[in-house]
Amino acid sequence: MGTRNDETQGFSTEKPRDKAVLAGVNLPDAWSGGMGGLADLPELARLVDTAGADVMGQVEQNRHRPVPSTFLGKGRLEDLQELVEETEANLVVFDNDLSPAQGKNLEKILEVNVIDRTELILDIFASHASTRQSRLQVELAQLQYMLPRLTRLWSHLERQAGGIGTRGPGETQLETDRRLVNKRITALRSQLKDIASNRQTQVRGRQDVFKASLIGYTNAGKSTLMNGITDAKVYVKDQLFATLDATTRRVELDERRRFLLTDTVGFIRRLPHHLVESFKATLQEVQDADLMIHVVEASSDDPEHQISSVNEVLKDIVPGDKPTLMVFNKMDLVDEELFINRFSRIYPEALFVSAKSKAGWDELRDEVVARMVADERIVRVSIPVSNLQCLSRFHRTGSVVDQIFEADLCLVTLRLKEEELNRLIKREGAQLIDD
Ligand code: GTP
Repeated sequence: MGTRNDETQGFSTEKPRDKAVLAGVNLPDAWSGGMGGLADLPELARLVDTAGADVMGQVEQNRHRPVPSTFLGKGRLEDLQELVEETEANLVVFDNDLSPAQGKNLEKILEVNVIDRTELILDIFASHASTRQSRLQVELAQLQYMLPRLTRLWSHLERQAGGIGTRGPGETQLETDRRLVNKRITALRSQLKDIASNRQTQVRGRQDVFKASLIGYTNAGKSTLMNGITDAKVYVKDQLFATLDATTRRVELDERRRFLLTDTVGFIRRLPHHLVESFKATLQEVQDADLMIHVVEASSDDPEHQISSVNEVLKDIVPGDKPTLMVFNKMDLVDEELFINRFSRIYPEALFVSAKSKAGWDELRDEVVARMVADERIVRVSIPVSNLQCLSRFHRTGSVVDQIFEADLCLVTLRLKEEELNRLIKREGAQLIDD
């Protein structure tokens, strides 16, 4: 999918955008393993647009359960078929997850490509992946998604080849393909493990610095906030999943105080679990954070729904409770008074900002600093001069308030977290001085 413009050849090879028809079945909330609930076709339309296709129309249906063979009921399926013909669409996108057999049956009836929301999101991730790590992560998620569907792929090819005589080799080929895909999955996992362990070494070097991580629904404005607060040049675009990689920058408060701020991949309702699984390394930044800054798009149709979708994904990534600061962004697009009235009741500690007009930025910084300081104690310790190298680390993180030398000891006043103090005493031979 997508539009490519090849200027280098001196002529435009711009591919026409795909034409897509959307389909969604509203199911009871409790239906099978979290797959129930209302379809969200406006969001699906945004995803389709981000992936590079035009939305030509949509078909929606309320059902108690999906039709096993085609998901949609007979009547609505005929409507869908008509709409596809009328609009000359070449693609149908389902908001619901389709089984391999359902996808195959629908393609047979509709005679166009049929994909589901998971495949669409995987496609967007694939086209936005720009670093080695994110490319490997997306490929892993795609292969894991594809593995149980290889049969469908092969029956496709069989049909194209006319069927007769292709069956035997097709099945053998299927086995070979499964083996190859599994081999590639193992290789990808091992490469990702290497990247993660390199990263772990970098993280160890910054374990004494306070770390805040921006998280939130896709398009909430995390990267815009990141760019404003730091001098990072994170890609900002009005599309879903513009950022797939974690970017970390140092925020200098004065010449002594600093914290690290990380921007990472956005979440979405029902984020495909293969993606969450594959992006664990990128999302490790969130696990390591001392504070999560949950950015919410105030101007979205249903901010509460976005918040609960993000919390749902977080449950898989961050075990237990992590300190969280709620930040409602894009306040320039809503009726401020009404909005604050409503949401400050539910989230009394939330901040209301606009990354665009810079309203509320200072409060946001101040709040992060307040959280950082709340976590710290000011203590006086003595460190043997023979072990002074550990002091340079505290100078680097801006934790040293004051220091004097007395004989073979250095008496230092430090600002640090309880666990760092314990480490300093246990591992570096420091002693606490009671005042
Ligand atoms: P993902 O990469 O998808 O996770 O998105 P993100 O949360 O990083 O959002 P990003 O910063 O890329 O912003 C998405 C869009 O919202 C961009 O077009 C921004 O210019 C716009 N935007 C961000 N903050 C504000 C704001 O406070 N007000 C308005 N009006 N637009 C904003």
